[in-house]
Amino acid sequence: MSIRPILVTGGAGFIGSNFVLQWIAAEPEPVVNLDKLTYAGNTSNLSAVSGDPRHVFVRADIGDTETVGRLLHQHKPRAVVNFAAESHVDRSIHGPAEFIRTNVVGTFDLLEATRIYWSALPEDERRDFRFVHVSSDEVYGSLGPGDPAFTESSAYAPNSPYAASKAASDHLVRAYHHTYGLPAITTNCSNNYGPFQFPEKLIPLVIHNACAGKPLPVYGDGTNVRDWLYVGDHCAAVRLILRKGRVGETYNIGGRSEKTNLEVVRAVCAILDEIRPDPLIAQRSSLITFVTDRPGHDRRYAMDTRKIESELAWKPRERFGTGLRKTVEWYLDNAKWVDGVTSGDYRKWVATNYASRI
Ligand SMILES: NC(=O)c1ccc[n+]([C@@H]2O[C@H](COP(=O)([O-])OP(=O)(O)OC[C@H]3O[C@@H](n4cnc5c(N)ncnc54)[C@H](O)[C@@H]3O)[C@@H](O)[C@H]2O)c1
Repeated sequence: MSIRPILVTGGAGFIGSNFVLQWIAAEPEPVVNLDKLTYAGNTSNLSAVSGDPRHVFVRADIGDTETVGRLLHQHKPRAVVNFAAESHVDRSIHGPAEFIRTNVVGTFDLLEATRIYWSALPEDERRDFRFVHVSSDEVYGSLGPGDPAFTESSAYAPNSPYAASKAASDHLVRAYHHTYGLPAITTNCSNNYGPFQFPEKLIPLVIHNACAGKPLPVYGDGTNVRDWLYVGDHCAAVRLILRKGRVGETYNIGGRSEKTNLEVVRAVCAILDEIRPDPLIAQRSSLITFVTDRPGHDRRYAMDTRKIESELAWKPRERFGTGLRKTVEWYLDNAKWVDGVTSGDYRKWVATNYASRI
């Protein structure tokens, strides 16, 4: 019997492309990669597998049920892994509609197309099929400084349009498992960092600006706390969940690495000062500029990851220090990639959203 592929959605984005590259390197099954190529999708992330017959790229919207249905019937995947989403909280504040269209309605359309395909499979293939939905820690809301970390049974309390749209999609996935028996699993992961992250997000933005001697924008007083996970560790967790996760379950994924935004920015500056010293700026942290806080900015996220650690024996390989150094080195070594994505539109976007208080 031929090896059946997996269908990955959003596989030209930051995490999706890291996942596709890792999958092709580590697993036998081919990948059908469906991505709409919004501003966040970039096929150059996938250049390492562009000539590989085990990678098929299709530009399409997860909401295009006709195309998704045709791909499912044509390629007969044994799993769908859904990374496709609008993912940037700030964009969701300025323009929430696209978040509802893709993250809520798009996920619904994808579930519906998958359900129709899955229902018609022979019984053993129906049993072995998986729908893995990749979600966020932001669905749980905000923690106070001394609160325990989020567990899989923490109540959903999303605070931004992005978080609400992801929460809605998680509920739909849950309902498709509960109502129709679709063998679905949801993952809720903390902040990722690593190669191929669009430079609107904190770490690549800081690397980019620090190298150019530009201000390093930090929201509010910089004390908001996030848990950070190296993207390769997230991808390894999703692969493991696809293989061994229990259907109908949700798994928290995180790095056990809580940092304030200010600590993250200072850590990037310290690495750059060491490996790429600038004779004109002794300490890049002097470029830090506090900017008006994001409305409704959640104070703290933290993930309790004991479930995935004990059930699936997963733990991150990178510590924050090692993962961050790798990331900074990757951005320095891939200046062409960075130049390719820092278009005029991107610069306008940054100017609008990081207006300095001064
Ligand atoms: N980045 C993080 O720190 C983080 C943390 C936890 C969970 N997540 C989740 O992981 C997933 C991937 O995040 P990311 O950071 O790689 O996002 P990203 O914005 O870098 O990539 C999203 C990808 O989805 C594609 N896409 C968007 N709308 C689409 C649509 N309607 N149909 C098909 N493709 C579409 C884009 O073109 C892009 O390639 C998202 O679901 C996000 O919510 C991200």
